[in-house]
Amino acid sequence: MTLKLDIDSPLMQADFTFGVATAAFQIEGANTAEGRCESIWDKFCQQPGKVVNADDGAVACDHFHLWREDIDLIESLGVDAYRLSIAWPRIINPIDGSINAKGLAFYDNIINELNARNIKVFVTLYHWDLPQYLEDNGGWLNRDTVQAFVDYAEVISAHFKERIYSYCTFNEPWCSAYLGYQYAVHAPGKKSRKMGLQAAHHLLLAHGLAVPVIRRHCAEAQVGIVLNFTPGDSASNSPADLQATQIYNDYNSHWFIQPLMQGSYPSSIEQLYAEDLPVIEAGDLDQINVDIDYLGINFYTRAVVAAPDSNADELFQLVPQTDVEHTDIGWEVRPTALYTLLTELNRIYSLPPIYITENGAACDDHLLDGQVDDQQRCDYLQQHLLAVERAVREGVTIKGYFAWSLMDNFEWAEGYSKRFGIVYVDYQSQQRTLKKSAHNYRKLLNSRSFINR
Ligand code: FCB
Repeated sequence: MTLKLDIDSPLMQADFTFGVATAAFQIEGANTAEGRCESIWDKFCQQPGKVVNADDGAVACDHFHLWREDIDLIESLGVDAYRLSIAWPRIINPIDGSINAKGLAFYDNIINELNARNIKVFVTLYHWDLPQYLEDNGGWLNRDTVQAFVDYAEVISAHFKERIYSYCTFNEPWCSAYLGYQYAVHAPGKKSRKMGLQAAHHLLLAHGLAVPVIRRHCAEAQVGIVLNFTPGDSASNSPADLQATQIYNDYNSHWFIQPLMQGSYPSSIEQLYAEDLPVIEAGDLDQINVDIDYLGINFYTRAVVAAPDSNADELFQLVPQTDVEHTDIGWEVRPTALYTLLTELNRIYSLPPIYITENGAACDDHLLDGQVDDQQRCDYLQQHLLAVERAVREGVTIKGYFAWSLMDNFEWAEGYSKRFGIVYVDYQSQQRTLKKSAHNYRKLLNSRSFINR
């Protein structure tokens, strides 16, 4: 399968945005350069056993030095937009809270260059790299971190204004809160449900308080948030499995989207996990329920859910699927789940326009004679684009699609062992090579009768 959409597909029209995405910690390296302070991920990487092969972000893709070549690469793909994140630790000085001009200058260079080339700039303010000095005071468990984020968002929006087309406050608060504070598999490596729920509330609140601040500085920019969804399907039609699946979806999906869209948390979770509920102050939920211009959705896979074993701590369990296709990171390939998710969310909520801000596959890629034949990724992208197309045809407003990722990079707890790029990175030489998927993506974008840029 190659990448192909009908010329009259809604995705092939001039108002649909195609892009590629990255995140600061995963590509930049140079993590002590020019006054950048330590982040929770720098510290987490130093802890034995936390990251595969004890990999860290010290060099990553060396994008800090190679950004200009990387923008050439992005432009060569023919994309309309590039989604990157700004590293908070590069911007605010930990000692006195002053602004690090060198940090801003680094992103000035990148953003000005993208503007000059007519590539729309989608910036994520927080893609998981909390400054360690804030974590030392409790991180996302401490309500003061909310204000620290709002101050940082103000610095960025006042400086870049509409040079940034789209501001995203947070990438995947589910991951920051639950993987970081409940399951201990991501930084900062804390472990309790109560902490996970408290961190989630503070992340959502920080979003809600930052949106009006960003708008004050950038009336024209698009402001939103990115959520990840791994929708749960019930393992059977038994009442117990169906109920467990409902709890799974309420806990993992609706706990995040419902307060954003409706200003309330799912009552099922409030009842079931009453002892673990976060501290919520009067007015918080109204703040979280602020109007946004778009919702970003990251989608990779689904989960199959069953009732838990009798002595389990959780109220649901995940059932591994054996006879189905998986990617190299062990995630089931299930494009219909993306279609169902989009139409379901559209039915339940009154959604703002949607961007698919991440979608992609990890493959065991090899560079052979200057080529990388990542057929599985090509098929994955094609199937998911068709799922998006189908949802659009059925009335879901979707304005764009970003492939994760521009290039192979530091895949968090998996280190460099998992490759998500459409461009191959040789970490020894830092050489970039377009994989078959990148060639196909470029062909697809160039086959549009309108070229957006
Ligand atoms: C998402 C993250 C992104 C990347 C992909 C594979 O959860 O936002 O940084 O790691 O998964």
